[in-house]
Amino acid sequence: MSTEATESTASLYRDYARRWFPGHSELYVQWATGVADSPELVALVSALPEPKRQPNLVFAAARYLGSGDTDFEGVRDFMIARWPEVAEIVMDHRTQTNEAGRCATLLPLFSMIAAQERRPLALIEVGPSAGLCLLPDLYSYSYDGAPQLGTGSPLLHCSTTGNPPLPTALPEIAWRAGVDLNPLDGTDPETVEWLRALVWPGQTGRLRQLDEALETLHTLKSGAYGSTAGAPTLVEGDLNDRIGELVAAAPEGSVPVVFHSAVLMYLDEADRKRFATEVSAMDCRWVSNEIFFVDAAGGSHEAADQNYFTLALDGVALARTGQHGAELHWLENGSGA
Ligand SMILES: C[S@@+](CC[C@H](N)C(=O)[O-])C[C@H]1O[C@@H](n2cnc3c(N)ncnc32)[C@H](O)[C@@H]1O
Repeated sequence: MSTEATESTASLYRDYARRWFPGHSELYVQWATGVADSPELVALVSALPEPKRQPNLVFAAARYLGSGDTDFEGVRDFMIARWPEVAEIVMDHRTQTNEAGRCATLLPLFSMIAAQERRPLALIEVGPSAGLCLLPDLYSYSYDGAPQLGTGSPLLHCSTTGNPPLPTALPEIAWRAGVDLNPLDGTDPETVEWLRALVWPGQTGRLRQLDEALETLHTLKSGAYGSTAGAPTLVEGDLNDRIGELVAAAPEGSVPVVFHSAVLMYLDEADRKRFATEVSAMDCRWVSNEIFFVDAAGGSHEAADQNYFTLALDGVALARTGQHGAELHWLENGSGA
């Protein structure tokens, strides 16, 4: 094992303990600090391929296998004793966290498009994971504590600043589709357990929201919603390779809306540029909710404060949003920020 690899693993875990986990999961702060200080665990993690060493993936694998949300000593002993299984889960799985809560920040743009176009929406998500963000019309919403919009479950709460155009009605959805490198079946029990393991310990509200969104997906798949658009059609592949065919397949009379959240960071700059320029040239609307805001010419803008995403419509930045959909900060003038 090279010293370079072990130093980089220890520093990765320290970075997560300092920057990403605080305020979200105190247990993961402890676990990441503990791993960084444990030469034995650092060596095990460093033997994984580099993209597989992220703490959130390794910790999700341990929890998926039943480590429980124990103190660091407990999870250290568990991971060391069961490392071959932990490594196998890490190698077979990805961080495909699917956050239905993001629909609260996407919905204002979906409703705006529906009002402008006066046609039902054909939602086409690139990087949908299990497709939970494709069901915005089946959840309900409360912005700034206002009375609930919609009757579905989960009820998503979102606080706002800057006078955003808040929806007064849920948009009509004609079709739901998506392309993912690894589409997930949110009704498969093992997949459900993996999606649950990806929610960080202590985030009980997010876990409840996930369970309720999965239940809604299950109900949709069983046909119980009657006339509403059916369950998402998810195809496998790279978003750049398959987006064109999905836009072309949108039902006649609908407006295709290509959207994505927490996906563009997995693409390199050339692929982000290709995607942005191609989608800008297609006959569709385009909603982006990402750390990497990409303008219509394909220029990448990384937000200075990565705790927030940039929400954009057709390549114009309109708001900053909380990563999990609980905050919407409307920008004064739509800009290329
Ligand atoms: C963090 S998840 C976000 C899921 C969902 N958009 C959400 O907000 O809950 C990122 C998803 O993007 C997918 N993905 C990453 N790169 C991709 C690519 N080049 N083409 C298609 N899907 C991709 C991953 O497989 C994963 O399911």
